[in-house]
Amino acid sequence: MMLVSNTPKIFQIDDLSVNIYPCEIELAQGAAQIVREYLISILDQQTEVRILLATGSSQIQFLDALIALGGVDWSRLILFHLDEYLGVEAEDKNSFCYYLQERVERRVKPKQFHYIKGDATEPITECDRYANLLNKQPIDLCFLGIGQNGHIAFNEPSVANFNDPHWVKLVKLEELTRQIQVKQDNFPHIDAVPQYAYTVTIPTILSARKIICLATGISKAGIVKTALEEEITVSYPISILRRHGDANLFLDINAASLLENR
Ligand code: GLP
Repeated sequence: MMLVSNTPKIFQIDDLSVNIYPCEIELAQGAAQIVREYLISILDQQTEVRILLATGSSQIQFLDALIALGGVDWSRLILFHLDEYLGVEAEDKNSFCYYLQERVERRVKPKQFHYIKGDATEPITECDRYANLLNKQPIDLCFLGIGQNGHIAFNEPSVANFNDPHWVKLVKLEELTRQIQVKQDNFPHIDAVPQYAYTVTIPTILSARKIICLATGISKAGIVKTALEEEITVSYPISILRRHGDANLFLDINAASLLENR
């Protein structure tokens, strides 16, 4: 199958719209254009827009493209993020807070950026503090990546709950997730990777009016196939996007390479 530049193949799996692009750059630009148009249209209807941002390698080119496109009034955006390592300070280069300060906040000056304080002395109180910020008003948009085990944010299969009563919680990270952090050179060795993390829960993610999920590279091909072609289950938390009314999954050709219908 030939894919024409900038023209994704688009199909639907249950309620989930899936876009496949020939390469990561085109995916990033395609997703950024869709997000830009959405932001411009809702900023026409409301004074502020609340967004949950993801981190990870899948977001880098997309965030760059979104910022480079211009035309979005970031001073009316209120930003949150999905997850953070327990015990890691904002200044630590491995924190998601640092990633987002460098890649987003310093460049676009949003109205507010609410960060999870990884080094808070009372983690349960920190979960409550962040939950109260999140649940004040609806979340308009959520960006997501996919873990190799199908996690979204840090909702690992072992702790994922589609009906979670919490907005934010502390979770124990799975061994595979921690190993991948070492493989990606984020930490020097497994013992340096925190064992616990804060995560917004699955109902918090699903409460967003629109979800934009990105997955790139061959390492995601297996979980993408399972999550789209098998049953919807907490064993592959990402599969729940198939029940959200406005979720969009953007794949590059490598992440889509095992799909029957690619
Ligand atoms: C980490 C983050 C997730 C993110 C995932 C995907 O595990 N906790 O929020 O979705 O990475 O990573 P990538 O963007 O590198 O595919």
